Amino acid sequence: MSKNTLTITDNRTGKTYEIPIENDSIRAIDLRQIKVNPDDFGMLSYDPAYLNTASCKSRITYIDGAKGILRYRGYPIEQLAEQSTYKEVAYLLLYGELPNAEQLEFWQNRIMRHTYIHEDLRHMIQNFRYDAHPMGILIGAVAAMSTFHPEAKNFDDPEIRQKQIWRILGKLPTIAAFAYRTRIGRPYNYPDSSLGYAANFLYMLDYMNQRDYEVNPVLAKALDVLFILHADHEQNCSTSAMRSVGSSRVDPYSAIAAAASALYGPLHGGANEAVLRMLTEIGNVKNIPGYIERVKKGEFRLMGFGHRVYKNYDPRAKIIKKIAHDVFEVTGSNPLIDIAVELEKIALEDEYFIKRKLYPNVDFYSGIIYQAMGFPVDMFPVLFAIGRASGWLAQWIEMIDDPEQRIARPRQLYLGEPMRDYVPVDQR
Ligand code: SDX
Repeated sequence: MSKNTLTITDNRTGKTYEIPIENDSIRAIDLRQIKVNPDDFGMLSYDPAYLNTASCKSRITYIDGAKGILRYRGYPIEQLAEQSTYKEVAYLLLYGELPNAEQLEFWQNRIMRHTYIHEDLRHMIQNFRYDAHPMGILIGAVAAMSTFHPEAKNFDDPEIRQKQIWRILGKLPTIAAFAYRTRIGRPYNYPDSSLGYAANFLYMLDYMNQRDYEVNPVLAKALDVLFILHADHEQNCSTSAMRSVGSSRVDPYSAIAAAASALYGPLHGGANEAVLRMLTEIGNVKNIPGYIERVKKGEFRLMGFGHRVYKNYDPRAKIIKKIAHDVFEVTGSNPLIDIAVELEKIALEDEYFIKRKLYPNVDFYSGIIYQAMGFPVDMFPVLFAIGRASGWLAQWIEMIDDPEQRIARPRQLYLGEPMRDYVPVDQR
């Protein structure tokens, strides 16, 4: 009769250990009993970059990397992108169920009532240099929000926790829009809560007192779907940062600033900015083969390709590719799309990429759409952060409410110097 256990034999001692298996995994702490000498610390598992380590139990997002499957609370990303809205998906991620009409109405109203930021925060944003990267402004502004809402530390109080969630989801687009307007040296447009989530964001970015100004509904819809696609992605680098920093029980604004900092990196949320620079550098489809050769020599990576989990096509990239055509109907095509499509075609037929299971990820096409919509390249990670904020918050809540979770504090394998005595400088 098979047992749900793992039997480990330590060949150094001949001892065997029976370790329980739960959810097709073992608890790393169960390895600590494996010792050679009784006063040994006990065995650790070594897993740099956590390639094969589950840091938590979660019920929010499911990814099957081999099959290219992504589901939020069990709902396929394709159905949510097609039929839902970002605010509704944010509710789903945070509370586990799709809201009914009354819940959705209340939820939307609450978020849109928290779109204004404190005037002192506006002044702070205004005082960044004109060439400050908007992601740096966003990170600074979100961290500063912890000083405007000190009560956020008491997030065990359900009402206080709920209010910070509304504030973050409501104010992030405003901070992002103000960062953009600082960049282009234009006065700020205050939020218009009568508009939808993405529409209000586009309004704050673009309105220049035109008499007949209206947000283009196709672009607002496309951006709303992009926010849905970026909303959560289980334990990615920035979400892990949210959980790890949040595990010290710091307020959610400080934790989100840490998550946004992780997202800023070119290997993570900064990749769509890097994709645009790459496509612009390639410049013409005839330059693609030479560029690919340089990637294969290891000179640099093909940005927007590859993924720690997906060893198949990122389902989000497929959806984004479709959105591109809707956007180009309005904005006119972005010539970089031709280079991207050809680059994808050539790469997917090349053994180097096939062997390493490297496919386009969420960042490969998103930047082309953002650029066609008129966003400057350095706004791309900011757009990613707006969408991902609901996922960061959902994961943060799941972590603080998880009785098994404590302050994150990994161990190490010390391979440094053994004990040695100090040597005075005149004897070195
Ligand atoms: C996001 O985690 C998430 O879920 C992230 C994200 C989310 O929603 O939160 O999906 C968003 O961050 C998407 C990824 C965006 N980043 C990029 O597009 C940057 C380019 N991609 C890579 O740097 C890379 O693919 C990562 C960072 C995405 C994944 O890196 P891994 O899993 O650590 O893979 P690896 O570095 O171990 O690479 C395995 C092999 C290596 O070759 P060998 O050393 O075995 O010969 O594949 C090669 C790598 O050199 N490789 C690439 C490559 N990505 C990996 N070679 C060329 N181009 C690439 N893009």
